[in-house]
Amino acid sequence: MEPAFNFWDNMAKRYPRFNDITMSKDVNHILNWCQNKNVSFEGASILDIGAGTGTIAIPLAQKGAQVTAMDISEGMLAALNEDAKEQGLSSKVSTHQSDWDSFPLNQKYDIVIASMTPAISDLQKIEKMLGATKGIGIYVGWGKYRINKLVEALVKAHTKEEEDCASGGCIKANQFIEILKEKNIPFESDFFATSWVDMYTFDEAKEYSYDQLKRKEITPDEEIVESILVSFLKDDKVHVKTEAEKGMVLWNVA
Ligand SMILES: C[S@@+](CC[C@H](N)C(=O)[O-])C[C@H]1O[C@@H](n2cnc3c(N)ncnc32)[C@H](O)[C@@H]1O
Repeated sequence: MEPAFNFWDNMAKRYPRFNDITMSKDVNHILNWCQNKNVSFEGASILDIGAGTGTIAIPLAQKGAQVTAMDISEGMLAALNEDAKEQGLSSKVSTHQSDWDSFPLNQKYDIVIASMTPAISDLQKIEKMLGATKGIGIYVGWGKYRINKLVEALVKAHTKEEEDCASGGCIKANQFIEILKEKNIPFESDFFATSWVDMYTFDEAKEYSYDQLKRKEITPDEEIVESILVSFLKDDKVHVKTEAEKGMVLWNVA
């Protein structure tokens, strides 16, 4: 369950855009993998579920797709629209703000894609996704690990317990695969390692820490948060490194 406070609108201020170097490396890897499996994006109608700032929607539009980017967060879609406009791609991308549950599925798309989004967090939401495509679907989720030492330290200091921080509310790639197997839907999959470093001012890091804790329904303790952040300070910035595995799943029922 997603929290009531505006986690994703807050995240939108910090979330990478389509031209972020690390993010675009991952996205190119995913889209190239699909193209090598004979998926053609040019001219395709594509629904991007939980599109965020357009990290995938904008590269797809650049490849000539007609993208519907849906997301629950106004802030994320504002960033997406800003970048689409700047890239001269406004006619290639339309946005729709809603929860995936209440998104009106008035048509089937050539391709449906969901990447790293809690929009896809249970079987019912997966089934809606499977029903949204004429044939091709792409799911990107966490693989076996995601390590963020700052979030681990914050959670541990507040709860005195280790917590599995890996899922972030989304269905993991392997869980998605199990559901396709149960439904006898043929698929291909692959996994890759990725890592990135976010650099925040102390105040930004504090806001980030509070959001991460509140998302886990933990009440932040200012003194604890500040003492942990100090240990992550380098040259006046808080460095937050994440190492993770991502899994890509491609199916075609056409
Ligand atoms: C980690 S971001 C992923 C963005 C993009 N797909 C990517 O791979 O970079 C997760 C996105 O899912 C959106 N989201 C979360 N819950 C959602 C829901 N129930 N329905 C639609 N979007 C949702 C958030 O607003 C956020 O933009």
